[in-house]
Amino acid sequence: MMTAESSAARGARRGRFITFEGGEGSGKSTQIRLLAERLDAEGVRAIVTREPGGSPGAEIIRHVLLSGIGKRLGAEAESLLFAAARDDHVRSVIEPALAQDIWVLCDRFADSTRVYQGHAGKVDLRLLDAMERVTIGALKPDLTLILDLPVEVGMQRAAERRGGETPDRFEAEDLSFHQQLRDGFRAIASREPERCALIDATDTPDHIAERIWATLVERGLVVEQKEAQQS
Ligand code: TYD
Repeated sequence: MMTAESSAARGARRGRFITFEGGEGSGKSTQIRLLAERLDAEGVRAIVTREPGGSPGAEIIRHVLLSGIGKRLGAEAESLLFAAARDDHVRSVIEPALAQDIWVLCDRFADSTRVYQGHAGKVDLRLLDAMERVTIGALKPDLTLILDLPVEVGMQRAAERRGGETPDRFEAEDLSFHQQLRDGFRAIASREPERCALIDATDTPDHIAERIWATLVERGLVVEQKEAQQS
């Protein structure tokens, strides 16, 4: 049996910030739900949120972005809209939760901007760096789980999920764009191995959830009950 590291053991440290990243159809929402349930069973207070969105103001911007209206403004301005949404979300939801020792599980965060707008969208990295300084400052995820799977499989899953509905702004991009997304996320995972874990998302949801939990244990975010009692 596992349990979360007790608040006492962690001293005054704040809640943990865990982000989920990956291409279309990688199963992030399912895995976030499963992790939230498991943390809840272990008595850890956690909220689930997402980007773009997660706060009332950012949800309005989300609509502008995913409907494709933002695209018409050009790639740089579209990136600024993602940044504006993030700024509101960080300040009104993420930081207050972490300060109250509540864990935050976030479906996409700054790595999505680096990959979608930077790596695949060709927006200048210096602009993205500058926006990160303003929106997230020193706030860095304690762990970023990158759900990785072949592009064809992900796009097939995303198409099944949306049924007859039209693809959104990013789902509608071509195969090579999605391949660049995969490459971009994998590059981040190998560049920042302390923060990131690359998770094989072709497995069954239960196995992926076990792998994710094992990653939290390996990284010392949760500890085994026995160890917790001994210390
Ligand atoms: P969403 O429906 O939440 O997609 P998914 O289920 O794949 O997470 O839509 C979010 C879309 O916005 C997704 O295609 C990725 C894109 N996105 C960016 O391009 N940049 C960003 O910074 C973020 C957070 C998301």
